[in-house]
Amino acid sequence: MVIAGTFTFDTESLSMKLLVINIARLVNTRKETKLLRGKELAELPIIENAFLVIDNGRIENYGSMSNVPVIDATIIDAQHATVLPAWCDSHTHLVFATSREKEFVDKLKGLSYAEIAAKGGGILQSAQKLNETSEEELFNMALIRLKEVINTGTGAIEIKSGYGLTVEGELKMLRVIKRLKERSPIPIRASFLGAHAYPIAFKNNHKEYIDSIINEMLPMIAKEKLADYIDVFCEDGFFSRDETETICKAGIKYGLQAKIHANQLSLSGGVEAGVKLEAVSVDHLEVMNEGTIECLANSATIGTMLPTAAFFLRMPFPPARKMIDAGAAIAIASDFNPGSSPSGNMNLVVAMSCIQMKMLPEEAINAATINGAQAMGLGEELGSITIGKRANLIFTKPIPSLAYLPYSFGSNLIDKVMINGEFQSAE
Ligand code: NIG
Ligand code: FE
Repeated sequence: MVIAGTFTFDTESLSMKLLVINIARLVNTRKETKLLRGKELAELPIIENAFLVIDNGRIENYGSMSNVPVIDATIIDAQHATVLPAWCDSHTHLVFATSREKEFVDKLKGLSYAEIAAKGGGILQSAQKLNETSEEELFNMALIRLKEVINTGTGAIEIKSGYGLTVEGELKMLRVIKRLKERSPIPIRASFLGAHAYPIAFKNNHKEYIDSIINEMLPMIAKEKLADYIDVFCEDGFFSRDETETICKAGIKYGLQAKIHANQLSLSGGVEAGVKLEAVSVDHLEVMNEGTIECLANSATIGTMLPTAAFFLRMPFPPARKMIDAGAAIAIASDFNPGSSPSGNMNLVVAMSCIQMKMLPEEAINAATINGAQAMGLGEELGSITIGKRANLIFTKPIPSLAYLPYSFGSNLIDKVMINGEFQSAE
């Protein structure tokens, strides 16, 4: 890629109006934004041999090179890169204190989930470590991860709490997310996931922990404006459907929309609870049947699938085809977390959605961009090449076709990532 006159990717030099020329494919060009469901997911508008004008970090104009405008702008020759809207990763647990590769190796040696939990592994181990770690350390570690995922093409991200499981721990996590929001060049949405697991002390006293979530944590979170969404791990052995509804309703009273971990390990009732509560999304969906697919498809709730988590845990993948064919609105996300998806690489998520869930490249790209943005309430800001939206973009290396992206799953095909009209340095 060549920037006429400067030959540099220094972000300072790009703050004026930009005219990007010679784009091999400009992907997901849309006059307006809407949530895509069913067959619409396979429709991915593309302009071949295109130009793009960016002003003040936002998309001002685009079209075919045959209509390239004559304007006063810094010219960037894309040299036949494919340009896509940056990935919108709508489900992550990016703030955590330590990795859990010991547990990973124990699992390889055959230890069961219960044995690992008995050895102090799992979510509770992450919670213990997080409670021992300072806000400053957590922030610094999370910032490194955030930079890493931006460099792999993520242009908006949701981040959950849920490794605190104490009043102090949950607030600490959410304050870290708030500080990340302030520092981040990409939009961040925060979800309060105090209901991620029962701390050992409350194992036999669910009511007391739920009371703490509702009467201690939520009022403080609302007062400090620390969360956008309320999340619950609705699963056998974690939070029941009734408990999920109680917690979400309390969050909704504080203006937080629901976004639920549903049906990861069983038919947990999470999908039905989410639809009833008008959740923005129900996430995971490895275990679905006709009834839950129908329920989701007839709702405005987005079904978010997390294929790298299914892959890492060797679980059956969500039945993406059945959900799409039933007319559901679906998104895909990374679930970046130390226990079930130690990767926030959305390129891999897109590839795995095609390879393992038989989604078409067009469907996976829509699910990771425009529908991912909608699953964070950012549909008007990101997720497509639309006039007025933020110029958060992926510039690929030369590729023969769009299908080459998921096909060549192990290669880094990203040349540059642009955020708010500025190329990111690749450190
Ligand atoms: O989304 N399913 C629940 N929570 C995480 C995993 C958390 C962990 O193991 O640390 C998930 O996969
Ligand atoms: Fe998750």
